[in-house]
Order: sequence, then structure tokens, then C-alpha cells
Amino acid sequence: MDLNIPHHIAIIMDGNGRWAAERGLDRVQGHTEGVSAVLRTVDACLGYGVQYLTLYTFSTENWKRSEEEVSSLMMLLSEALTKYLPDFMERGIRLKTIGDIDALPDSVLAKLEHVREETKSNDKIVFNLALNYGGRDEIIRASRKLIDAGVSSTELTEEVFEQYLDSAGMPDPELLIRTSGEMRVSNFLLWQISYSEFVCMQEFWPDFGKDLLTKALQDYSGRQRRFGGR
Ligand code: IPE
Ligand code: IPE
Ligand code: MG
Repeated sequence: MDLNIPHHIAIIMDGNGRWAAERGLDRVQGHTEGVSAVLRTVDACLGYGVQYLTLYTFSTENWKRSEEEVSSLMMLLSEALTKYLPDFMERGIRLKTIGDIDALPDSVLAKLEHVREETKSNDKIVFNLALNYGGRDEIIRASRKLIDAGVSSTELTEEVFEQYLDSAGMPDPELLIRTSGEMRVSNFLLWQISYSEFVCMQEFWPDFGKDLLTKALQDYSGRQRRFGGR
């Protein structure tokens, strides 16, 4: 089967906690394994020539988790950014972020800004992390920005609105994947997924990699996208 490769794949990485629980490990160990799955996924996307990969990494709702889990997630992110920056440079990976990252701990924010700056000329893939991200929050922040910029009601179109979203300049994802069997959007990319194809799979995120990505691409390649036409 010929695979149809999307320009942009978005993933709701879910099931780290359940993956750990099944093995009698604690949730943080699930997140640690989740980082390895991220690296395998970027690798596989590079191999397939995907141009944008957006990963739901920390939602505006995830602050409800225990302080211990939240700080472990921040720590893992911070360590991974330091550890993999040389790899990003070597392989042409450009880091971008969406979400209200100013609310992240200062040390994480500084590292994100550093890696975004260092990688800004890399052009093989945009590795886009959704951090303190909520679809509704993004839409509200965009609305505030465009009001502050003095955009009038008659000037406002979908194209203008998109320029104020965190995702400005990126194509909408053609494919949205969610692991761990859940079939909900959980406040991810509400605007951008209006016509995305949705692939849900039972496997937990730490088990994700090239094989499951290929399976999702096969599923996607068999879809007929009609966009309301016939
Ligand atoms: C996804 O795994 C990672 C994040 C949301 C940060 P979960 O931590 O949600 O794992 P489950 O859903 O509890 O199994
Ligand atoms: C969505 O997963 C958020 C991320 C993957 C970062 P959650 O596990 O937080 O979502 P719900 O609570 O199952 O909807
Ligand atoms: Mg979950």
C-alpha cells in the first residue's frame, strides 16, 4: 500500500500512567518511558518526511495532578531539552511551542527559549510541543491579541484569526492520533482539527514508535477526505 504522508501530524500522547501501573511501576516511570517514545516518533517522522509534528505534552488541565507528578514532568522536559539539543542540531529538528508557556517554571521557560532560538534555522522538521496548552485558552488569548491589535469586526476572517493563534504559520494537522484507547479531544487544537482525520489506538504511549506510526499512516492513507463535498 502506498502511504499518504501528512504534512502535519498531531498526537495526544496518552497512557503513560496506565503503562506504568500495569508493570507495578510509578507514574513517573511511565513518563520517563514516554520520553523515549517521543524520540522514536520524531525519528520515524523524519524518516517519512513529515514536516510538522505537534505533541500534546502538558495541558492547561494537567496542573490538577499532584505537585510531585507536575514537577517530575517539568524536570523530565528540562532534562530532555538539554540532553537532546545536540541531536536536534545534527538532524535538522526545529523546536517550536504552542500554549501559554510563560506560566511554566522559569528554568523550563529559559531552556525552551534557548532551544527554540538555537534550532530556529533547522529545516527538516518542526517539532512542536504543546505546553500549558488548552484549545480554549489559545482561542481566548488569540482574541485578546487581535482586539489589542485593533482588528475590526469587518476585517476579521478565518485567515486573519489564524494569524493570532499560537499555531500561526503552521498548516492544520491532516492526522490526529491518540493512544491508550480514549476517544476524546481533551481540549487539544480545537480550531486546527476541524477537518483532521482521527486515529485512536489501544496501545499506551510508551509503546509508540515507528511500527504504530506506520499503522496509523496506513489507516489514514485509506481514508477518503471529503471536506463536506462529495
Ligand atoms: C499522558 O499520560 C502524559 C500526560 C498527560 C502528561 P497520562 O499521564 O495521562 O497517563 P494515563 O492516562 O493516566 O494512563
Ligand atoms: C491529554 O491527556 C493531555 C496530554 C496528553 C498532555 P490527559 O490524560 O490529561 O486527558 P484526559 O484527562 O484523559 O482527558
Ligand atoms: Mg491520560
